[in-house]
Amino acid sequence: KLNNYWQGRKLLITAGPTHEAIDPVRFIGNRSSGKMGFAIAEAAAKAGAQVTLIAGPVSLKSSPDIERVDVRSAEQMFAAVKEHYQQQDCFIGAAAVADYRVKEAANEKIKKQDGVDELTLELVKNPDIIQWVAAQKDKPFVVGFAAETNNLIGYAKDKLARKNLDMICANLVGESLGFEAQDNQLTFITNNKVEENPLSDKQDQALALLAFIAGNN
Ligand code: PMT
Repeated sequence: KLNNYWQGRKLLITAGPTHEAIDPVRFIGNRSSGKMGFAIAEAAAKAGAQVTLIAGPVSLKSSPDIERVDVRSAEQMFAAVKEHYQQQDCFIGAAAVADYRVKEAANEKIKKQDGVDELTLELVKNPDIIQWVAAQKDKPFVVGFAAETNNLIGYAKDKLARKNLDMICANLVGESLGFEAQDNQLTFITNNKVEENPLSDKQDQALALLAFIAGNN
């Protein structure tokens, strides 16, 4: 099904959450486990691709034929992507990157104070990693993900256009959907196609995604 398309091709992929420090021991994060992105990385490597995986803080292992860069924050993920995006054939952004980070993380652990019942954290916007990749002159084929709790296809199409992506994978997320789960259901969207997959495990979704890219390039 993959028709040797991935043999020798270079794929850069982000996976997992980012952790945005509040102080040395606390962070703002999300429930991404990295499973979806790691499944794509493993399937592509098996299909003969040269895979670089930029992983947020996750507890997953990856096979030794995958070049892995571990990062923690969105800014670190951005720096790693900038270092590796050149000469890639494809970039897949499966990471759940924090949209905002704490403006000034404290250098020391923040102490609970008597009489102080409210604490305000000031947040600033993080760089949009995939949008930056898609804006480069020598850009690879850029595939984004859209994690939505409602209006899935509508919001995904907005992101495809706004971030100038070649393709986006839409998935519904919620209490037991998308994040952390073993199964997922992706809808592949390009400027002229919408293709919905049946629900299956993330390994299976990964293969379907790689086949879709192969068939649309
Ligand atoms: O890791 P799992 O537990 O297996 O869960 C998988 C998943 C649900 C996290 C995954 O399938 C998924 O949907 N990943 C993207 C989640 C997300 O945060 O989407 P978003 O709609 O916020 O972002 C849209 C796109 O922009 C994504 O490709 C994202 O990587 C990218 N982005 C977002 C913000 C930012 N600052 N930089 C980015 O590159």
